Amino acid sequence: MANLISPHGSSVLNPLYVSDVEARVELAEEAERLPSIVVSSATAANAVMLGAAYFNPLTGYMTRDDALGVAREMRTTSGVFWPTPVLNLVESAEGFGVGDRIALRDPNVAGNPVLAIQTVEAIETFSEDEMREMTEAVYRTTDMEHPGVAAFNAQGRVAISGPIQVLNYSYFKTDFPETFRTAVEIRKEIGERGWQKVVAFQTRNPMHRAHEELCRMAMERLGADGLVIHMLLGKLKPGDIPAPVRDAAIRTMVELYFPPNTVMITGYGFDMLYAGPREAVLHAIFRQNMGATHLIVGRDHAGVGDYYGAFDAQTIFDEIPDDALEIEIFRADHTAYSKKLNKVVMMCEAPDHTKEDFVLLSGTRVREMLSNGEAPPPEFSRPEVAKILIEHYQSQRG
Ligand code: ADX
Repeated sequence: MANLISPHGSSVLNPLYVSDVEARVELAEEAERLPSIVVSSATAANAVMLGAAYFNPLTGYMTRDDALGVAREMRTTSGVFWPTPVLNLVESAEGFGVGDRIALRDPNVAGNPVLAIQTVEAIETFSEDEMREMTEAVYRTTDMEHPGVAAFNAQGRVAISGPIQVLNYSYFKTDFPETFRTAVEIRKEIGERGWQKVVAFQTRNPMHRAHEELCRMAMERLGADGLVIHMLLGKLKPGDIPAPVRDAAIRTMVELYFPPNTVMITGYGFDMLYAGPREAVLHAIFRQNMGATHLIVGRDHAGVGDYYGAFDAQTIFDEIPDDALEIEIFRADHTAYSKKLNKVVMMCEAPDHTKEDFVLLSGTRVREMLSNGEAPPPEFSRPEVAKILIEHYQSQRG
């Protein structure tokens, strides 16, 4: 077994999913007798990430002070380095109190089954000023048009903190049996494959040529043993491509264009925050937990609209303490196909080029082409990938 990178904040991963079947059945029975609440989608996604050990070493939902500490200084009160609040925010905590155990019900699965049991350690209310402060620190804006800001603020103001025991992985394991993986599973597989240097690729999009070559460049330049494509399987803003379609497109691309046994295609159950730089730091933490030694951070990583500078998600890593993380960041410039060189390059490495020398298409233009049944040029998208995307767009038209 290879000697893998340490998890974040502890020597061994501590998944909060209860893996013992009998214990899980007992907890499910207990849950039926407990006060219960249907949590927000963000809270449910946090439970899935905690269950899967991606959020190691956290043991549950943060207190008010933890969340404010994380927003202000990226530290919990116990000193754990963390970039985003992990909260269970509700409208009201009627019907239970501190010391009680409560059942957290899943808003994203029919019938709202119990997702986790929480032991309530504190019930605290954020003021509007504190909500604004956290929003500003994490998202760098308080504009409600920002989808992450809107989702965060659509929750209640009452934070229920305390440890959780997770009973299932929501809809992720059932809807994406091939792709959903826990950090424990990915770490194990990396060990079994004997990979030492492992590049993780975060994505919420189908992979076009720029993405594909970015991964290839990172692998070659780092001398990596393998690539873990790790796609977001949770909620996205309207208009983003649904996970099953992305999954199919990525699988096709890898099968046709990467050597066998060099790529793992995986996914995680979390709703996109669109928090740009802060989300990139979170991404680095959970990739370290799953055993990756490097994370690719390119242009406008985890961004949306014009809220972040194209490389803010890279420079934030210069601002965090040196010892905060073990995983390293592979920083990529804007990649695009060069008509002069007949290959995808990082734009900064082709200083003699003008904009016209590259094949550049806006997201809007690509969507327009695909909706019209037109494949983008092969320099932009592999034809096999374009075909899957065209089918998706055309099926949406009805
Ligand atoms: S993200 O929200 O998950 O970051 P996306 O799936 O589009 O969005 O991007 C995945 C990764 O590829 C991110 O690190 C992003 O910065 C990088 N990336 C995407 N397109 C490009 C590009 N043309 N040039 C450089 N990096 C890119």
